[in-house]
Amino acid sequence: MNMNFREYKLGSRFFALALGLSMCITLFMPSFDIGSVNATNIAMDKQLWAGHESGFSLDDPLLLGWHKPLKVLLKADPVNGQPMDPTYAYVYEKGTPLPNGVLHPDNLGSVAKKLSIDKGHILESNKNTGTVFLVRMDDQKRYYIENASATLGWTPEGVLKTAGDENTQHAAAGKSLFVREGCWWCHTLLPEQTQDWQVFGAPPMLGDFNGESPTAFGSDRKAPDILHVASRNSSKEWMMLHFFNPRLVQPHSIMPRFDYLWGPVDANGQKIDFAKWRAEYNEYREGKRITPPEVPTYARNSEIRNLIDFVMNLK
Ligand code: HEC
Repeated sequence: MNMNFREYKLGSRFFALALGLSMCITLFMPSFDIGSVNATNIAMDKQLWAGHESGFSLDDPLLLGWHKPLKVLLKADPVNGQPMDPTYAYVYEKGTPLPNGVLHPDNLGSVAKKLSIDKGHILESNKNTGTVFLVRMDDQKRYYIENASATLGWTPEGVLKTAGDENTQHAAAGKSLFVREGCWWCHTLLPEQTQDWQVFGAPPMLGDFNGESPTAFGSDRKAPDILHVASRNSSKEWMMLHFFNPRLVQPHSIMPRFDYLWGPVDANGQKIDFAKWRAEYNEYREGKRITPPEVPTYARNSEIRNLIDFVMNLK
């Protein structure tokens, strides 16, 4: 009797040890691996446009898109206004949490980390004044992050003003919507290792995810993978119709409509009459109208603008 009890105690200790070890491996090994792989330019672009955290966080607890960076396309130098080759810059306004690769340069891998610190001056980034970043390539074709505020004197305000609203993308706030609205119940951001690749494009590579949080791979899929959706469909108009009511462009779609992301008013500040729209749409479905009612153009500060900017960044 006594003997049996001791065996039981020993067994449970071994069991706890094995469980604890396997949990440690699961939780900590991935971070060792990520540190030993250099971030690709894809990973750098992604973490710079998506920001420090695009899921739940204290900086944006309700997933409303607070404290998110902006990605802009610059066609002129923000300091002297001279035309330059189109360049993407990532704008972290005052108070926006800095991207992961800058907060934790180990995430970039040893080579990218060294270049980003030595040539890119990322350790001089400042959350209190705001910082502008670039993805750069050195003469040996190695990528790194550059703090353009330190190296070129670019300020967040100057860069936003030079780029203009039409060249400014709210993709990070849009990624929060992807999380909040549960798009991931149906869509993945990870083509599977099957014939998928022929349809949905190349799978990601090792190093493409360094510093991204959350990765939003998705798990269960009822709809197309959208990791590269903007490469096969770059029409903002189509996206607008599809989000307002997917049945306008795909008659049998099971995707829910996201018309409420338009908010109360359209681009001209006119109140959107959703009830009237539905009534006219139902007439169209019953054959009493030849065309469906027109989808209102969204306002510049609407949530749908952020979501479409996010989708258009999935190339
Ligand atoms: C209930 C499942 C479901 C949810 C939730 C859902 N979708 Fe979809 N989505 C689909 C299906 C099915 C299709 C394919 C048919 C179609 O185009 O509507 C689709 C198509 C798309 C496409 C076009 C894909 C392509 O290959 O051209 C995009 C982009 C898209 N969805 C984005 C989103 C976003 C962003 C959200 C969250 C705001 C979302 N979807 C939520 C089911 C869903």
